[in-house]
Amino acid sequence: MDGNGRWAKERGLSRQAGHRAGTENIRRIINYLGERGVPYLTLYAFSTENWVRPRPEVRALMQLVARVIKREIKELHERGVRLVHLGRLDNVAPSLRRQVLDAIDLTKGNTEMTVAVAFDYGGRAELVDAVRRIIADGLSPDKVDEETISSYLYTAGMPDPDLVIRTAGEMRLSNFLIWQAAYAEYYSTPTYWPDFGSENMEEALRAYAGRERRFGGLGLD
Ligand code: IPE
Ligand code: MG
Repeated sequence: MDGNGRWAKERGLSRQAGHRAGTENIRRIINYLGERGVPYLTLYAFSTENWVRPRPEVRALMQLVARVIKREIKELHERGVRLVHLGRLDNVAPSLRRQVLDAIDLTKGNTEMTVAVAFDYGGRAELVDAVRRIIADGLSPDKVDEETISSYLYTAGMPDPDLVIRTAGEMRLSNFLIWQAAYAEYYSTPTYWPDFGSENMEEALRAYAGRERRFGGLGLD
C-alpha cells in the first residue's frame, strides 16, 4: 500500500493525512475482493524497515492501525472475514498488541475470506524467525524441506500469493513475502494507494488473468 505520502503532498496535506486516506481505501478493496470471491488478501501495512521513519510518523501509523481495527472489526467479523497477522508484535505497544490479538481471536472461525495484515513484517525477519524455531524444535537437517520451511513461516497454512500488486509505481518487492511470492505474478501501477479503487483492482485482476503461468516449465499444453 504505497504512495500515501506522495498522494498527500500533491494535495498540500500532511503525510499523516495521506495515511488516513489510505486506510479509508482498505474497506473498499476488501469488499470488492470479497464480492469477487477472492479468498486471501494480504495487506502490507508496516515493514520492519519502517521503524526508521520519524517518530511522529511511526506513532501516527500505530494510532491509525489501532483506529482502523476498532472502526472496522465489527463489520469485518459480520462479513465472515478472518483476520491474520504476519510479522512480529514484540516492538508494538502492549495495548495495540492486545487489540490485534483480540481481533484475531474474535475472527478465527470465519471462513468467507482471510485478510492477512503484514505489520512489523519483513520477509528476511520471517525467515530468521522460522530458522530459529526449526532449530529450537530440534529438526534434523534431512527432515527440512521446502514444505517444512513454509510451515514455519507466519503464513503457515495459507496458500502462496498468486498476484502481488504494488501501488505508486515502485518496481521492488521490498522484503514482502520473499519466500511465498517466488512464483507470484507481479503487477505495478503508478496509482497511489489512496486512489487505488475497485476499478484499479479490477484492472489488476484482468492483467493477472492474461498472464501465462509456467512455474519454470514450458507451458506448452
Ligand atoms: C505507504 O505510503 C504507507 C506505509 C509505508 C505505512 P508511504 O508513506 O510509503 O508513501 P510515499 O512512498 O511517501 O508516497
Ligand atoms: Mg513509500
